[in-house]
Amino acid sequence: MAGTPKFREQWSTKLGLILAIAGNAVGLGNFLRFPTQAAENGGGAFMIPYMIAMLLIAIPLMWTEWAIGRYGGAKGHGATPGIFKFLWKNPISKYIGVLGLFVPFVVLCYYIYIESWTLGYAIFSLFGVLPHPDPSLPQNQYLKPFADFLSWYTKPSFVAYLFFLITIAFNAFILYKGVSGGIEKFAKVAIPTLFILAAVLMIRVILIETPNGTAVQGLDFLWHPDFSQLLNPQVWLAAAGQVFFTLSLGFGAIITYASYIKEDDDIVASGLSSASLNELAEVILGGSIAIPAAVAFFGVMNAQNVAESGAFNLAFVSLPAIFSNLTGGGILGFFWFFLLFFAGATSSVAISMPVITFLQDEFKLSRTVAVTATVIFTFLVAQIPIFLPKALDEMDFWAGTFFVVLFALLEVVVFFWLFESKKAWEEINRGGLFRVPRFYYYVLKFVTPVALFIILIAWSVEMFPKVLSTTSMEAWIARLVMIFILLLLFFMVYLANKRNGETA
Ligand code: PHE
Repeated sequence: MAGTPKFREQWSTKLGLILAIAGNAVGLGNFLRFPTQAAENGGGAFMIPYMIAMLLIAIPLMWTEWAIGRYGGAKGHGATPGIFKFLWKNPISKYIGVLGLFVPFVVLCYYIYIESWTLGYAIFSLFGVLPHPDPSLPQNQYLKPFADFLSWYTKPSFVAYLFFLITIAFNAFILYKGVSGGIEKFAKVAIPTLFILAAVLMIRVILIETPNGTAVQGLDFLWHPDFSQLLNPQVWLAAAGQVFFTLSLGFGAIITYASYIKEDDDIVASGLSSASLNELAEVILGGSIAIPAAVAFFGVMNAQNVAESGAFNLAFVSLPAIFSNLTGGGILGFFWFFLLFFAGATSSVAISMPVITFLQDEFKLSRTVAVTATVIFTFLVAQIPIFLPKALDEMDFWAGTFFVVLFALLEVVVFFWLFESKKAWEEINRGGLFRVPRFYYYVLKFVTPVALFIILIAWSVEMFPKVLSTTSMEAWIARLVMIFILLLLFFMVYLANKRNGETA
């Protein structure tokens, strides 16, 4: 469709936009990652670094991403390689923007596989396929069939592969329908459904009482503050990591969604609204389901082990085990996994969009062609995390942790320093229902970049030796594939630039 006049889609209503961006943010992280992180990092005390990171890093970064996206969209570009060259007129700016394609794409390739487990487990719960061991067994024997089921399922089994195919087809279906016809419509159904399911589960969980404990003890366990933990830098890193992940910052995904906003539409209040919805889902709902249920069922001591054994165990082993012992447990299990599936799907379409938008904007491909190409490529790369579990961890470390923070830092520097602070500040406030307090001008200019820089260094020092000592074949395959993807994206950006003949 080369040569057609510039036409970019737009969100059709403000509510739809807010729900779509909330859908982007509300994901598996809210219901699994948040409660396990909080439980492991000081309980209630975790909320102090969490809120500080929210105010000084996440909220300013969120406004930055919305502003970068809206600015680029008005110029016909919704992915960072295309946008950055307007912000910083230097030939390398578009190549920095490649990270805004690389990060979401690599994360998508494993995120969508895990999302497909939630769909599989939703159906299994509904049809009573999950194990039903005798509840009077001691805890580890009672949990074992659920753990065995998970490891059989994720080997991967034929069934798991089938659900993966269904999930990828479901995502493709939404993406083919486009921004307002697909993503926005889906978010308008998925987000309210997800909140209702979570509220029902929360109420049911609060009522659980067993000889081992109660859900209220679970809330106490989760929120009991251990202030001594505040002296531990790890806790601060964990909190910063969580606010990033949960608000989908540093992924390029918010930028691309924001590129479909009308030119003068408010972003200050809309950004806050979608972030608030995310926090409601995270702190209130996410904090009141998995951990309280585990404490009520297994008792405080054992729930601690559950939380430490990680988010996947909590979601796919402990909770099915708990539900299997409650009346109507099949339905509750279905609610739980279906809620996770909707949370996951509204996020996976979001991380699919930067590459799709890039292909549409820079190569003038039609939506159908851009979506087809992206889906095929996702399907191919996803085989690696599906069949090589260690490759998944490797991809998660590089794309999902390290490059996210690096890219976030680059975004703020490009926007607030290279584009120019005054213009950036005006860009954020333009069309706003209210102006951002002036205090944030200085936060954005100094505090956020410095904080990101410190986090980046601290993480690198801590993690690099660990990760680089992994010499397994699987890790190496993942690394090579990621290098290949990165080079391919560089090449495509080079081609796009040549093709469009726009000198940076
Ligand atoms: N915010 C999502 C979550 O909490 C994860 C995600 C990150 C989704 C980036 C899309 C983009 O699970």
